[in-house]
Amino acid sequence: MRQVTLIATAAMGLESIVANEVRDLGYTDLTVENGRVIFTADVTAIPRCNLWLRTADRVKLLIGQFEAKSFDELFEKTKALPWEDFIPEDGEFPVIGKSVKSTLFSVSDCQSIVKKAIVERMKIKYGITSWFEESGAFYRVEIALLKDVATLTIDTSGVGLHKRGYRIGQGDAPLKETLAAALIKLTNWKPDYPFVDPFCGSGTIPIEAALIGQNIAPGFNREFASENWSIIPSNLWEKALEEAEDLANYDQVLDITGSDIDHRMIEVSKDNAIEAGLGDLVDWKQMQVSDLNPKKNNGYIISNPPYGERLGDKKEVDKMYKDLGLAMQSYPSWSVYVLTSNEDFETLYGLKATKKRKLFNGFIKTDYYQYFGKRV
Ligand SMILES: C[S@@+](CC[C@H](N)C(=O)[O-])C[C@H]1O[C@@H](n2cnc3c(N)ncnc32)[C@H](O)[C@@H]1O
Repeated sequence: MRQVTLIATAAMGLESIVANEVRDLGYTDLTVENGRVIFTADVTAIPRCNLWLRTADRVKLLIGQFEAKSFDELFEKTKALPWEDFIPEDGEFPVIGKSVKSTLFSVSDCQSIVKKAIVERMKIKYGITSWFEESGAFYRVEIALLKDVATLTIDTSGVGLHKRGYRIGQGDAPLKETLAAALIKLTNWKPDYPFVDPFCGSGTIPIEAALIGQNIAPGFNREFASENWSIIPSNLWEKALEEAEDLANYDQVLDITGSDIDHRMIEVSKDNAIEAGLGDLVDWKQMQVSDLNPKKNNGYIISNPPYGERLGDKKEVDKMYKDLGLAMQSYPSWSVYVLTSNEDFETLYGLKATKKRKLFNGFIKTDYYQYFGKRV
């Protein structure tokens, strides 16, 4: 099977979780860098990683990496790469770009130079003198410059991997599905432990927990850009889907609840869970956090409450955090995990966290407050 080098991109702070997921898929020789995990594997890894990675943003195919300080250098070194090994004669290949701390800072110029270089190369290789039709499969090329090093990749995912396809409705501040999955992966929650998100909004965290709990591949219900690529034998996507179906454990009993003060969000969550194929696997209920009263022991609360960043919200949010702290005082066997940017969280909750981890929710700097329950 043909070998490829892949880059699983990760939000800042999630690299080690993405790396663990890549390792769990059997790819062990990894390099973990800021924002990405690089590994070499056979092409089967393209469908498998797209289907299974819960916390990565995208999977990109690495075509080449080199220093480029002038447009000539960028052109010649791009042209020297074997594009025809990846993009067929009829492939559609738009070029996007970014440049950070590099001599070549005009992104639009870099994009057109890369496009020209690929066209030149492919004209020679395919013996074409006119235009390429670009009527076939989609190959989005990216030129990323960082400190004068150009990285050329082709995106295998299409829309970002956070788009699982189930979120047909959402509220004001929905969490990215990839971050929701990461929040769960950062805990020791196991599918047979109770799980509650008392600020569930559109249901992202409980839905991701249910997918993890039944080992359902997060990409099972969506499409990917590389599904029609000629370098991936067509049966490999089918095989990867069959593998996902075989590994799903639909018999796993789950005890997952999502609640929210807003009844409209409960309806949205229900619809999203149905769209995810989970039916009534998750319990949804309209409830305010002060009424939280878990019935069992050793459960997990994993949640993303409002942060109180909007003017006028502070009082309400302060009370909400106090209510959560008060409610949980009676349940010491429960572990509580809360993502918020609110620096007063521990004071309001009434307890210092066992552990904290810095994470970004989009561009918002947050802390992931972790309280380990005393198991009984
Ligand atoms: C940041 S959103 C959660 C977003 C969710 N993680 C998602 O992906 O859609 C916070 C949620 O807390 C709910 N909320 C606000 N005050 C509450 C309270 N006192 N009790 C329970 N839920 C509350 C809001 O209705 C909102 O849906």
